[in-house]
Formats: sequence, structure tokens, C-alpha cells
Amino acid sequence: MNAAIRSVVRCAIYHKLEIVGVIRGLSGLIREELRQLTHRSVSNIINRGGTILKTARCDEFLTKEGQRKAVEVIKKNKIDAIVLIGGNGTYQAGIALEEKWDIPCVGIPGTIDNDINGTDSTIGSDTAVNTALEAIDKIRDTATSMERIFVVEVMGRDCGFIALQVALGGGAEDVLIPEKRFSLRDMCRDILKGNKRGKISWIIIVAEGAHIPVHHGAKAEEIARRITKITSLETRVVVLGHIQRGGIPTAKDRILATRLGSAAVDVLMKNKRAKAVGIAFDKIKVVDLRFAVSKKHLPVGNFYRLIRILT
Ligand code: F6P
Repeated sequence: MNAAIRSVVRCAIYHKLEIVGVIRGLSGLIREELRQLTHRSVSNIINRGGTILKTARCDEFLTKEGQRKAVEVIKKNKIDAIVLIGGNGTYQAGIALEEKWDIPCVGIPGTIDNDINGTDSTIGSDTAVNTALEAIDKIRDTATSMERIFVVEVMGRDCGFIALQVALGGGAEDVLIPEKRFSLRDMCRDILKGNKRGKISWIIIVAEGAHIPVHHGAKAEEIARRITKITSLETRVVVLGHIQRGGIPTAKDRILATRLGSAAVDVLMKNKRAKAVGIAFDKIKVVDLRFAVSKKHLPVGNFYRLIRILT
């Protein structure tokens, strides 16, 4: 996100606009946590993970009162338009500001889940996939040396994007995602079949959002427990968690963020309303915020077919 902030700030200044940063996202907007940003405020941040502006989940903005307070701050500080960087929740806030309060907004897709429409990729998703992949490569060393089954859980609240990418890129044997039904019995049958022909180590990727009922603990733990129960084989569980949300951003993410930051300022300069910027087939794309939050289609079938062929 820092690369996007840097780009928005410097492109806005290039167009002779004044720019303030909102600290802690929508929660900071409600509390009037604003900071004037200059060319220098965004020096040396392009290579840093996270966001220098900090961020927070904000349930208060879902209420009318929360929105009213935010709008009061916007008017009081004579803010003409807002650049929102985030995922679905952030975009929903933009839609509310536009439709209910007539505040011009433009969205920049920033989420590791890559579940925003109108862009091939969202800022952070490439870094997250590469981080998860690096971890899986390391796990593979133990998996093969000790001949074990590993169940690895990756992030993705409602979307199997990270899971599919790392499954394919990391040579995993199976992947469980929210977009596809799966059969544990079939998976265990494959494991036992493989076992007979001498294949002993397996890496199974589970998306955090996969439909696996659990009372407590990680979904990967539940899957591992059931695999052991059905096959009597030993399993190990790794939940990668928030390491996927940090670290030095990849070149792809920095360039994406930089191009999108500039595109967002262009949208505001042209007085376009309720838009989100993205890049598809290497071209800048401007779509409606409402379209951006609609369900994104993942080409699940092709990925699975390939994983099956390669296992
Ligand atoms: O929405 C992005 C995401 O990283 C999801 O993949 C994950 O479920 C969620 O955020 C984690 O959020 P939090 O850090 O608030 O627990």
C-alpha cells in the first residue's frame, strides 16, 4: 500500500492538488486523524510493507452515525474527494460515501485476497503468494525428507486465489478452496493409492475460507485430523497466517501500486464519480465501484485439471 500512497501523493502534487492522509482508515476519518502529506512525507516507503498511514477495521462506519461523523470531518476540512485503498469493506464505504453523502470517491484495490473485480491483480496479492510459496518450499524439505503429509492453511477469507496460486506454484497435491466442493473420502483414497505406489509425502493447501465446519481452531487442523482418522497416516499442520500480509513488496506489486495510484488521481482530475481503478491485460481499467465489489470469478476448473495432471 505504501507504493500506492507514494504514487497518489506525488501525482496529486504534480497536478497542484493538496493532499491529506487519513490515519487508521475509516476509523481515523471519523476521529479526524488527518495529516498533511508532502512530496517528502512519502520518501523511502516504496519498498516497505504495511502502510505508513496505518489501518484499522471499522464497524462504526457501518452505522449512519459513524458515516455522519466522517462526512462532518470531510466537510470541515474542505476535502473534495477521497482515494480509498483497500478491499471489499473499504469499497463498500466508498459506495456509501458516494451514494448516500455525495462525496466523490475512487478506489484502489489493496487486498491480498485478489477478490476485487475490474483488475487482474490487487496490491499485495503477489507479495502474499510469493511469501506463502517460500514457506511451502521450506515445508517441502521436511515433507519429503520425513515422508509426511502436510496440511498448510493460507489466507483468503472468501476467495481461493492465494491457495490456488501456491498449490500450482508450489507443486501441491491438493487444494481446498471456498469456490469448489471437495470430498475428503476421495482425497484420502488418492493418498492411499499414492502410498501403495511409494508416494509418501503430500502437501495439501487449505484456503482459510474453504467450507469446512470447525468448532474451534484452524480448518487445516480439522482436515489433518480427518485424514489421519481415515488413512492412519501421520499428518502435520502449518497455518501461515499473517506472515502473508507483510514483508518487502514484490516488484509486481510495487509497479501495480504505482500505476494504480497515478490512475486514481487521473480519475479524480476528470471528475469521474464512484469509480475503481485496476489493470487488466496490462492496461489501466476504470470500473464502477459497484462492479468492483461484485463476486469475482476464479477460473477454478483449469487450475484443478492441471493440479490433477501434475500430481
Ligand atoms: O481480507 C484480507 C485478509 O487478509 C483475509 O485473507 C483474512 O481473512 C483477513 O484479511 C484477516 O483479517 P484480520 O487481520 O483482521 O484478522
